[in-house]
Amino acid sequence: MFVSRSIALRSCLTSSNPAQRAYHDLITTPTKKPIVSHGPPGYSAVSGHVATVFGCTGFLGRYLVAKLAKMGTQVIVPYRDENEARLFKPMGDLGQIVRMEWDIRNEKQIAECLRHSDIVYNLVGRDYETKNFSFSDVHVAGAERIAKIAAAEGVSRIVHISHLNASTTSSSQFYQTKAKGEERVKKVFPNATIIRPGPMYGYEDKLLTNIAVWPIWWKLNHAETTIRPVHVIDVAQALTNLMSLPEITGTLSLAGPSTLTFQYLLDLVSSVTLQPPSRAPVLPKRVASVLAKASQSVWWPALSPDEVTRRYIDDADTLSDWDAVNVVPSEIEQHAITYLRRYRSADNFVRPVVFPARRPVISVSSYALWDERHA
Ligand SMILES: NC(=O)c1ccc[n+]([C@@H]2O[C@H](COP(=O)([O-])OP(=O)(O)OC[C@H]3O[C@@H](n4cnc5c(N)ncnc54)[C@H](OP(=O)(O)O)[C@@H]3O)[C@@H](O)[C@H]2O)c1
Repeated sequence: MFVSRSIALRSCLTSSNPAQRAYHDLITTPTKKPIVSHGPPGYSAVSGHVATVFGCTGFLGRYLVAKLAKMGTQVIVPYRDENEARLFKPMGDLGQIVRMEWDIRNEKQIAECLRHSDIVYNLVGRDYETKNFSFSDVHVAGAERIAKIAAAEGVSRIVHISHLNASTTSSSQFYQTKAKGEERVKKVFPNATIIRPGPMYGYEDKLLTNIAVWPIWWKLNHAETTIRPVHVIDVAQALTNLMSLPEITGTLSLAGPSTLTFQYLLDLVSSVTLQPPSRAPVLPKRVASVLAKASQSVWWPALSPDEVTRRYIDDADTLSDWDAVNVVPSEIEQHAITYLRRYRSADNFVRPVVFPARRPVISVSSYALWDERHA
């Protein structure tokens, strides 16, 4: 790798055809690694950057890898399940997407996965605990291990994905461990960029599609819990843009532009899918927790007791940092039909969309937005 980079660098500086190569094609990372771009634009491009995306096989990871590859980045995609890694094959030319098997507990494998990269993304996370991995194993110990090895291998940049509601004082174990993970990452990699996205929606989400199938679980807390949904493509774009923004370190919040109640989302899904509103009862928290606990004995992922707790926690009211990453986040209504049309009946498939009226939710960020618009 180093030899090929040196050759590329030499040819870059001595090229007689300025249309082919120029000095702006050469950049160096903070650790003085030369990055030389060449080739045509698009999937066959070579930007010279190498990125490792841990957690690439998940919902957000696939969009991120596709965007990075499209920019000509060589992407290392660590995977656990061969089937999950197959979909990366068409995302880049031969050799551009490098698949590597890994285990979050195996330091040697982690080092091999990130050794040649100039940026490491850690998207690893899990909504529920399994018999093999607790929240802490994944969000705290795993995150710290990746950051520590990245620092030891001289990787210049790490982008760690946390959650908008990460807090050490949260009643949810998931949010607590996300916050502890952030602290550990910052300790071993002080220049890490921590990203805190809000709940994401898209084709494979656990938000709109889940509301369409299981509305009863979104009626908890009388559907009064507030949420700041964000489009997964916007978050993937923000993460991609970070490649060209090396000066950004610290913690960035990427929540959706609006604060909405679960009730609004239930109404939205019902009006977009043209299905009648759910007549399921509002379950008391204790009953919901008992049901969630009992459902853990099945072998497929079911709503966990911690997720029940999270359904009662409003999304953090912090200001978002979209400007810093040069992305304008979109409203959920812009994309709802794309992801929900499949729940319409054949008769209603092409009917126009009518959205329910929004009930305003007053929050710090909406005040700030109001101030900005009326200044
Ligand atoms: N989805 C949201 O609404 C949302 C909102 C805010 C923050 N986040 C955070 O953003 C990140 C990405 O979210 P997502 O929705 O894309 O998550 P996801 O679909 O659940 O994907 C999680 C990824 O983490 C990997 N992973 C989980 N446990 C692992 C383990 N023990 N060892 C190795 N790999 C493991 C999974 O690999 P396998 O495919 O091999 O299981 C998968 O690639 C997560 O950290 C999540 O907490 C998500």
